Amino acid sequence: MDKVVVELEERSYPIYFDYEGFDRVGDLIKKHVRSSKTFVITDSNVYPLYFEKIEESLKKSGFDVTHEVIPAGETSKTMEMAQRLLEVAYDSGLLRDSSIIALGGGVVGDIAGFVAATYMRGIDFIQIPTTLLAQVDSSVGGKVAVNLKKGKNIVGAFYQPKMVYIDISVLKTLDKREVLSGLAEVIKYGVIWDFDLFTYIEKNLEDILRLKEESLTHIVKRSCEIKAKIVSLDEKEENLRAILNFGHTIGHAIEALTGYEKYIHGEAVAIGMVYEARLAFNLGYIDEGYLERILNLIKRSGLPADYEGIEKTDMLNAIKLDKKMREGKINFVLPVGFGKVDIVSVKEEDVLKVLK
Ligand code: GLY
Repeated sequence: MDKVVVELEERSYPIYFDYEGFDRVGDLIKKHVRSSKTFVITDSNVYPLYFEKIEESLKKSGFDVTHEVIPAGETSKTMEMAQRLLEVAYDSGLLRDSSIIALGGGVVGDIAGFVAATYMRGIDFIQIPTTLLAQVDSSVGGKVAVNLKKGKNIVGAFYQPKMVYIDISVLKTLDKREVLSGLAEVIKYGVIWDFDLFTYIEKNLEDILRLKEESLTHIVKRSCEIKAKIVSLDEKEENLRAILNFGHTIGHAIEALTGYEKYIHGEAVAIGMVYEARLAFNLGYIDEGYLERILNLIKRSGLPADYEGIEKTDMLNAIKLDKKMREGKINFVLPVGFGKVDIVSVKEEDVLKVLK
């Protein structure tokens, strides 16, 4: 089976790529965990679609399976929910050599990973991401967390899974908005790392939006290769990994100011990429032609390229809250060439100039 390895010495792990292959998942997981006791955490959207298939495959491979379904959505990513899951784990008899499987999108992956990282000081963890966003971003790289009321992902850890299993056919069941949200992160990889990927999306956009197997497989696999490389070079985000935040500085501010309701994550990131690319143009890092290509690709794909109803000063304050200020300057990841970004310290007045 096709795979990409996240190279982290003794903690290295594979990302497998499959297509309608859930019958194989039990045997694969068996190779990467220590015992047959496992706890599947999923959500109310994903449970009716895939749980039964996965449970069947796990049982065929000799697993003793417990499961818990959490309500779909970001509001489930709390300490209270983590506590409930930890108690279910304990009551179900999970031991230090047992495992936890996250079956779902980013929320499930983050909270299940947090539970796996903390239960008995850490047990084996497996990711089965079922959204494009989770497949190309959140399931790879070991960031796990829950939210506090005042802030997203404030409590968490870097806790790498033992394996990631990506079945690309599941993307067929996503609604278009979810697919586009993930596509924003794929476009991001094109801008920050691999301009061939950017031009591939430009050329194959219609096939991607029609969810053609070949083009989806290409973008998911290439995105995972890029993320795996970046994580293996800088696991704990001491330097390089921060480039994954292109579009996110303004994107996070938009999400926070609209109460995480108006825009889903990838939509906010798409708008953030447009504004951050404009900032790069204003500061002379990229030319107009490149700025237009980024803007056009986002618009053609159907992602939003602009926000409504947010005051400049509110946006600036939200950006400052999200990112630590250094002497009146704010750090942005800005494009500086095709497939290349730098971390640039930008003056407040330059940020204000680019905002509406
Ligand atoms: N999603 C950004 C990161 O994993 O670092």
